[in-house]
Amino acid sequence: MCGIFGFVGNRSAAPLLIEGLRRLEYRGYDSTGLVVRNGSLQMFKKVGKVSELTKILPNHIEGKMGIAHTRWATHGPVTDSNAHPHMNMDESIALVHNGIIDNAKSLRNRLESKGVELTSETDSEVLVHMITIGLNSGQEPLEAVRQTLMRVTGTWGLCVLFKEYNQIICARNGSPLIIGQGVGESFVSSDPHALSQHTQNIFFLEDGDMAIVSSDGIDISRLEGGSSTTSMTILEDEWGEADMAGYPNFMLKEIHEQPEALRRCISGRLDKSNGSAKLGGLKLEPVRLRNSPHVRLIGCGTALNACRIGQLAIESLARIPAVAHVSSEFRYNDPVINPNAIHFAVSQSGETADTISAVKEIQLKGGDAHGIINVVGSSIARLCGQGVYIHSGPEQAVASTKAFTNMVASLLLFAIRIGRTRSFSRERGRNIIENFERIPQLMETYLSNQGPIDEAVELVKNAKSILYLGRGLSAPVASEGALKMLELAYIPCLAYPAGEMKHGPIALLEEGSPVIVIAPNDKHREKTIASMHECKARGAKIILIHEDGDSISEEADISIAIPACDSLLSPLLSVIPTQLIAYKTALALGCDVDRPRNLAKSVTVE
Ligand code: AGP
Repeated sequence: MCGIFGFVGNRSAAPLLIEGLRRLEYRGYDSTGLVVRNGSLQMFKKVGKVSELTKILPNHIEGKMGIAHTRWATHGPVTDSNAHPHMNMDESIALVHNGIIDNAKSLRNRLESKGVELTSETDSEVLVHMITIGLNSGQEPLEAVRQTLMRVTGTWGLCVLFKEYNQIICARNGSPLIIGQGVGESFVSSDPHALSQHTQNIFFLEDGDMAIVSSDGIDISRLEGGSSTTSMTILEDEWGEADMAGYPNFMLKEIHEQPEALRRCISGRLDKSNGSAKLGGLKLEPVRLRNSPHVRLIGCGTALNACRIGQLAIESLARIPAVAHVSSEFRYNDPVINPNAIHFAVSQSGETADTISAVKEIQLKGGDAHGIINVVGSSIARLCGQGVYIHSGPEQAVASTKAFTNMVASLLLFAIRIGRTRSFSRERGRNIIENFERIPQLMETYLSNQGPIDEAVELVKNAKSILYLGRGLSAPVASEGALKMLELAYIPCLAYPAGEMKHGPIALLEEGSPVIVIAPNDKHREKTIASMHECKARGAKIILIHEDGDSISEEADISIAIPACDSLLSPLLSVIPTQLIAYKTALALGCDVDRPRNLAKSVTVE
């Protein structure tokens, strides 16, 4: 959701800001803008992606300090004037903001009554005018920002640049902001991707932190006054690998990175001798695993689909009730929290506001939560203080792929761990672990022989809608396949547990309707065949994802074979063809696969 980048040092700021924006663009791409300080504040902003902004930039922009922003619109439509940065009336202060100012309307009215002319419809612009009033009354920049933020309610990650001062003021409350310290230069960013090429020395600001950022260093204090305890951490190496490595886009690269990402995720975590899994970040003693009354898994979108797979695997292997929850509903349904229960917050970015709220609700009611997170040091990871990093590496395409498979893998590892503590035998555990170890190789086998994906694309690309069906663990895989398709190709998709299809969705089927069925060779196979027959009887065309060598392929109009594996692990393979079908359909329809319309990579507002 909105990306912020800032630089102060001895190098030309504009190229660094543009490069930073390019790396953060996946966070939001309705409009972009930057401002550079060089005697005056020079501002450029434009609707569209970074490539649109670069078209209006002069060849050279003087100045060694600047701030930049890529926007995902919340208040006010997508226009040049609503793009950030926002400036005050005499163009001496510029601001970029990520988050929402809840009381912007009343602040706006008050400013207008004092004669301030606001030039945008955003909630953010009020901040720059309020800071101006503080500065004009004799406050120093940090104090003017502090006094402004004391008067607003809402969330912010923000940077403020001043014509008259050689420093950037930053603040965080609910929206991520990271500061990087180089030699004689400092950087600000919404996430680590954009910093890794410049410095490994990172400060993850906490909610309520403010900072003065200059080329000499970084001074972090608290909004309420006093110094902050936020300290420097060293960025993990894996956050450096964020280029396309010869692929035409990030999405295809990330689909193909799944075997390697999975190897990283399971490395050191498969406990072969005990037929169990080692998850060092989980602070769960065997006695807690044994006595816990239930497990709750919370996430949004793709993470929610991973939670649904986790739910089924945990319940099945450990014989403990497990339930997956939609993050955005969780807090507002006033859930009963049992402090002995195990809660997982699942999130690629670790910044999703709905999931953060759910974790806070659990903690408020005396429970604790474990993160299943990709971005190291992200808000949810720090809020939980315990959990599992999934180690997918940076995921740049907005549609999640390699993070999904690693979230699923992490939850399956937990299911094995708790299952071994509670119910199943070492032999069964060993068998699953041996099969788990083979999955990266099986992913490679499938990716090197993907089957008739192009034929599937021909069948779906002009369809009015697509129905995705699966049973058991394959039902959430069907949901994930449908989510990918509608995110990328904008085709309405429905995903249903196959047996539920006859209770309503079957009404949609007509001659030629495409139905994508996920049917590994598991205990649901026969029932899924029955569902396919019901579809075919209504003229539907079946695209079937099945195990290699299974005669179920005879039921298909288009048959896509994946390598056979333990049915518990099948989602790790069966989801890949659904990713490829969505990807290639989007390309066939001329859609932007890395930056689908209206979306943003991390949604940091509720
Ligand atoms: C996935 O393709 C989507 N872009 C989206 O559903 C995403 O999974 C969701 O917003 C949750 O994000 P998170 O994993 O970063 O919390």
